[in-house]
Amino acid sequence: MASDQPAGQKRTIVITGASDGIGAIAARELAGPDTELVVVGRSAKKLAPVAADTGAQQFTADFSRLSEVRDLADAINSAVGRIDVLMNNAGGTFDHKQRTHDGHEPNFQINHLAPFLLTHLVRDRLVAADGSLVLNTSSVGNLAGDVDLDDLDYKKRKALFMRPYGSGKLMNIMFTRGIAKRWIGDKIYSAAVHPGPAATSFGRDSRFVGLAYRSPLTKLVTITPDQGAAPLIALAERGADPSLNGVYFSRHKANGLENPQAKNQGLIDGLWKRSAELTGLA
Ligand SMILES: NC(=O)c1ccc[n+]([C@@H]2O[C@H](COP(=O)([O-])OP(=O)(O)OC[C@H]3O[C@@H](n4cnc5c(N)ncnc54)[C@H](OP(=O)(O)O)[C@@H]3O)[C@@H](O)[C@H]2O)c1
Repeated sequence: MASDQPAGQKRTIVITGASDGIGAIAARELAGPDTELVVVGRSAKKLAPVAADTGAQQFTADFSRLSEVRDLADAINSAVGRIDVLMNNAGGTFDHKQRTHDGHEPNFQINHLAPFLLTHLVRDRLVAADGSLVLNTSSVGNLAGDVDLDDLDYKKRKALFMRPYGSGKLMNIMFTRGIAKRWIGDKIYSAAVHPGPAATSFGRDSRFVGLAYRSPLTKLVTITPDQGAAPLIALAERGADPSLNGVYFSRHKANGLENPQAKNQGLIDGLWKRSAELTGLA
């Protein structure tokens, strides 16, 4: 890892969405004697085997409740003195017609607003590492996104197929760029990554994507969960490398195909401001 980690000191890695899919694989792969691991899921029961196999501390929070994200941050801050790598990986496709407990469109809250809040609330621990990485699991689906600061919850617009999910994943890249610009002075770097079309439980909360991911033909176009986790693991291993800052990776390749909005500084700043307001940070 490229952080200024004193000899003999363990690196601390926090992984959300560690109860299943690529997050669980990354947790098992990154665990080891030199790593203090924290795994986060929404079901304690489902997360327990991952924690047991890796020796990680485990915490639960449902990202559709921001109060649980706040409690989660308190628990993490009490449990660790520093965070070398924060992997904001929890997420998925959700029915845009539903609302979260906080009244938001779920693709927006679970994929973006909750990790935005969590990252801010553990920021002091990222600073304490004196060189840290915030790695956001995005998606090629960002290309289908459309960030409208006046309609983040899709109340006014038609939510065309995949657009709300794509918007959430586009926000992952925009948040990455927001961190890259604002927190560089504290040596907090950030990157975003598309893992590839991994045959995980992904899409189970969305009727159409779930069907697509579980049809027999899907096997021809998906990669294995291990292959999907590989870029996340590689980037986490690189850790606080300034050359990663603000970069969106498509699997292992830097500068993946991205929505033009992802580089729109006005929109990046506007999303940051709006997200801070909506989470009570501003
Ligand atoms: N697989 C793909 O093809 C693909 C492609 C591009 C991007 N991605 C992204 O990769 C990330 C990981 O997905 P995956 O493929 O590993 O899917 P997965 O197997 O469904 O895992 C998703 C993880 O996120 C957690 N999660 C979902 N909703 C949550 C909520 N409301 N609160 C807290 N945690 C929640 C899940 O918890 P539970 O175990 O309790 O469900 C699980 O740990 C996601 O951000 C996804 O958008 C996946």
